[in-house]
Amino acid sequence: MSSTIPYGKQTINSEDIKLVTKVLKSDYLTTGPFVEKFENSFKKKVNSKYAISCSNGTSALHLSMLAIGLKKNDVVIMPTINFIASANMSRLLNAKIYLADVDSSTGQLTKKTINECINKNKIRTLKLILIMHHGGSPNLGSDLSFFKRKYKCFIIEDACHALGGKYSIKKNIKVGSCKFSDISTFSFHPVKSITTAEGGMITTSDKKIYQKIKILRNHGIIRNKLKNTNKFLGYKIVDIGFNYRLSDMSSALGISQLKRIDKFIKKRNIISKKYFNKLSFLKDYIYLPDKKKDVQNAWHLFVLRINFNKLKINRVKFFKLLSSKGVNTQIHYTPIYNQPLFKDLKSNIFKGTEKYFNTCLSIPIYPELSNIQIKHVVNSIKLIINKYKK
Ligand SMILES: Cc1ncc(COP(=O)(O)O)c(C=O)c1O
Repeated sequence: MSSTIPYGKQTINSEDIKLVTKVLKSDYLTTGPFVEKFENSFKKKVNSKYAISCSNGTSALHLSMLAIGLKKNDVVIMPTINFIASANMSRLLNAKIYLADVDSSTGQLTKKTINECINKNKIRTLKLILIMHHGGSPNLGSDLSFFKRKYKCFIIEDACHALGGKYSIKKNIKVGSCKFSDISTFSFHPVKSITTAEGGMITTSDKKIYQKIKILRNHGIIRNKLKNTNKFLGYKIVDIGFNYRLSDMSSALGISQLKRIDKFIKKRNIISKKYFNKLSFLKDYIYLPDKKKDVQNAWHLFVLRINFNKLKINRVKFFKLLSSKGVNTQIHYTPIYNQPLFKDLKSNIFKGTEKYFNTCLSIPIYPELSNIQIKHVVNSIKLIINKYKK
């Protein structure tokens, strides 16, 4: 293999370039007609009532937390295995973070681990459960309604990995529809299901949340509409807001990309099937991702769990050997309590998390990964295992 295979990558075609170029030649670069068009296409695609675009997945989380009124000392439960944005944004608002353990094979929260977190920490009042569909596999579903009813809390789905996923294929319950939650958030970073370069989206069924987010996204501004006209003159500031807007260029790219989302997810599913077929015979050394019935996985990641007890090398050496063969892998994720800023959150022993984290390694998956590249990834893994097995 001459060039390096990344673990994830965008797919850009001439239609994408054409639409972005159209914006570049138009009058609007920031907020123009494509922003609303993108939001409308997105809400149709995921079956949500409202969709609000924003500058990235992190601002989507920040805006969502502000919209539910998350404030100092409010209790938030989130998974130990997560991208850092949820913890960072919660801490920014001085909320009280409790980490819940994850299942050792999926790296995801379960009803049991959330309950354990509530009981061990003697949590009585709960403001928010923030779940994450790790790797693209929709997590929890109707169990979320249980917590919502019992604790009268908000549920936010960090769905940054899972655009294109379905909770139920049969019932066509899509990630982003907010069927089991108050808010879903998305990122359009290049490795995600679709890209807008930087970009994000928030979906909700709640009109008040929708209206609040729209104001906060744009400096806390409400524009003054002139009576009996469609004209606006001046504005008033009603909240401390931000510039978290998505540009028209990014929105155009998003519209074009969203047209191909089904193809992208299909390709990711095909690649995952190939990995399952080609790697299953290494089952003594490698555990493959869980496959849930009737669930559409968006396959943002393909996370192997490697049994290093049966190998003479550790993960760093494994990573380096794959890297020397041009196969880039990644760890998703270091537990939040192992990050220097969040060491104080290590209140319990997180057994599932430790087991998951010590074995996980994400191998390349993205729509344009070719059969030759898949073969190369698989052969490289096989070679290393055969050479270093005990
Ligand atoms: C699960 C998760 N949440 C949030 C984010 C933040 O998104 P962004 O990078 O667009 O700010 C990411 C992005 O990597 C993510 O993977």
